[in-house]
Amino acid sequence: MYFQTGNERAFGTFPLKGTELETALESALDVGYRAIDTAQMYANEVDVGKVLARSDFNRSDVWITSKVPTSEFSAEAFIPSVEQSLKELQISALDVLLVHWPPGDDDVRPSLDWLQQAQQQGLAQHIGVSNYTPKQMRIAKAHCSSPLVINQVEFHPLLDQSLLLKTAKETGISLASYCSVARGKVFEFPLFDDIAKAHDVSAAQVVLRWILQQGVSINPMSTKRANQAANFDVLGFDLSDAEMVSIRALTTTGYRICNEDLVPWAPTWNAQ
Ligand SMILES: NC(=O)c1ccc[n+]([C@@H]2O[C@H](COP(=O)([O-])OP(=O)(O)OC[C@H]3O[C@@H](n4cnc5c(N)ncnc54)[C@H](OP(=O)(O)O)[C@@H]3O)[C@@H](O)[C@H]2O)c1
Repeated sequence: MYFQTGNERAFGTFPLKGTELETALESALDVGYRAIDTAQMYANEVDVGKVLARSDFNRSDVWITSKVPTSEFSAEAFIPSVEQSLKELQISALDVLLVHWPPGDDDVRPSLDWLQQAQQQGLAQHIGVSNYTPKQMRIAKAHCSSPLVINQVEFHPLLDQSLLLKTAKETGISLASYCSVARGKVFEFPLFDDIAKAHDVSAAQVVLRWILQQGVSINPMSTKRANQAANFDVLGFDLSDAEMVSIRALTTTGYRICNEDLVPWAPTWNAQ
């Protein structure tokens, strides 16, 4: 089983770097996080590596995910870029290596071949994708001989990702959520406070629990210890079916963080 208690709640690290990253990550590890989400694009792998190197953790105690950007999608660049990640992180292999974005309208298969090659060379235990549409998930599933363990996508209660969820079940490629609290936008909706009161938790915890209860892992980022602790403490209560449905109604909001204004290559999520 790919997800185990611990790695379904990773600490997101974008856009932290330098001292801010080091302080936040040390606090997150102290709070209890044992999984970290980074990427070459975040330019913070060296800072993550420093924190881990001076910590008391063994390598096997912490689950590390990183991602290869499309700029490295070539036969010459892909593997050296992963080797550079490992050097900066001061580790010999990643727990999970993802391709960060699909290559625009181009064929996804060459980058998946390099991804599998990295795994075959022992640079990553597991491999997966990020920002893949349902169509690309099906192509990837059909193409890869090695299992793809996750598709990390924008996933929160203000965006309908039911098609991706359906495709995750079909393909066996689980979803992982980024922008889980929609960078704070969810807090404008009183429904989460109402449900939170009933469970004696916070609105953020309700949002994260709603995601986890659909079998989707989470990667929340916070610079504040109290928020980090709340975001980690989300396994001790259950939302009822009625609560799950009432939150799902908000997905018609259609709010996106990584839209075309922010990321020109943003996916069309419901592309079949
Ligand atoms: N694969 C991809 O393309 C992709 C894209 C984007 C992000 N990611 C990954 O996903 C991670 C999370 O996404 P994100 O950081 O963009 O969005 P996010 O986790 O939805 O939002 C982070 C923001 O929410 C606030 N926040 C977090 N927990 C809170 C709480 N309990 N109460 C109140 N405010 C809270 C934080 O502020 P404070 O610091 O003040 O707590 C921070 O400003 C990233 O760090 C990155 O690792 C991946």
